[in-house]
Amino acid sequence: MSDIPDPDAGSGEAVLDPDALIGEDRLDASLRPARLEEFIGQDRVRRQLELVLVGARQRGQAADHVLLSGAPGLGKTTLAAIVAAEVGAQFRATSGPAIERPGDLAAILTGLEPGDVLFVDEVHRLPRTVEEVLYPAMEDFQLDIVVGKGPGARSIRLDLPRFTLVGATTRTGLISSPLRDRFGFSAQLEHYEVAELLAIVRRSAGLLGIPVGDAAASEIASRSRGTPRIANRLLRRVRDVAEVEGDGTVDLSVARAALAVFDVDELGLDRLDRRVLEALIDRFGGGPVGLTTLATTVSEESDTLEDAVEPFLLRCGLLQRTPRGRIATAGAYAHLGRPAPAPGRAPEVASLFDGPDQTGDG
Ligand SMILES: Nc1ncnc2c1ncn2[C@@H]1O[C@H](COP(=O)(O)OP(=O)(O)OP(=O)(O)O)[C@@H](O)[C@H]1O
Ligand SMILES: [Mg+2]
Repeated sequence: MSDIPDPDAGSGEAVLDPDALIGEDRLDASLRPARLEEFIGQDRVRRQLELVLVGARQRGQAADHVLLSGAPGLGKTTLAAIVAAEVGAQFRATSGPAIERPGDLAAILTGLEPGDVLFVDEVHRLPRTVEEVLYPAMEDFQLDIVVGKGPGARSIRLDLPRFTLVGATTRTGLISSPLRDRFGFSAQLEHYEVAELLAIVRRSAGLLGIPVGDAAASEIASRSRGTPRIANRLLRRVRDVAEVEGDGTVDLSVARAALAVFDVDELGLDRLDRRVLEALIDRFGGGPVGLTTLATTVSEESDTLEDAVEPFLLRCGLLQRTPRGRIATAGAYAHLGRPAPAPGRAPEVASLFDGPDQTGDG
């Protein structure tokens, strides 16, 4: 979402201060599982990571570098902190866009202590010049830096302590292959099952002291779009309604009423998601229509649609991307309560070419 200013970009404050978290971010942090055994779901990744970390601990070495990829809110930052906790190491956090120059990276790396876990969020956004300095640091724990300018410039090599780099990215495809190859372990986080989200809602409710009934917890879990962060957020919104309009107890009717107030429907779609589908069906006869046109119609940026709206609609099978543009599926008509389109008008299943939209607009 390029229209939102990045608070980290250009701040020069490369290592983030956890105490700077405010409001809900701080709450978010308080709900983070601190150890691998508290981390719910992602069983395969958890098992693999456990082997990597136990192996390193037994050898008394820093763990291999770890790359975590997956959609926002699935637990990448949480797992990175868990890596540090499990090997008993210090956790240092920064992000790709915060490291503007090789010198910024050098300052961070030379400040590390042996065994430290360095978390680089949005690692796909590291500048290329910084990436090149990172390669030998990851591989040989050595840093080549150029000091001075012009004819007096010379390169010096510094030894670094052995550290573990944990990189996180929402876009694996954007990581250069030399960088990707230097991670000893890569894991792709998937969206969560409703049963796992239910366990997460129960755990968070317990930590926050919110009395939540089973049916209400299931309702929240099933509207959370497979995403723990959303589950926790919906739980807090439901709590607001329960406390302001009731005695604080969250039962099914309170949960449903609260989710309606905050425009979260049965599938977890929000207002913008529904506006996009409505525009597609009511204005463009179900499509195909180009992304830019669709974005303009709902007064949003194309990037917002592509990053924040489409992935979930695609996952739910409500939208399809075709070479000629976006199409509303029969499921979308049914979900919005529109009469079913004429046969052959909207795809029933993912039968059309499901590749990237090449048209741009159309
Ligand atoms: N497996 C899990 N079990 C319990 N809670 C989880 C789990 N994964 C994530 N959470 C919760 O969801 C919140 C979001 O997770 P986290 O910040 O780690 O996501 P992320 O993948 O780093 O997202 P982003 O890409 O936006 O940085 C955390 O505060 C944590 O409370
Ligand atoms: Mg994160």
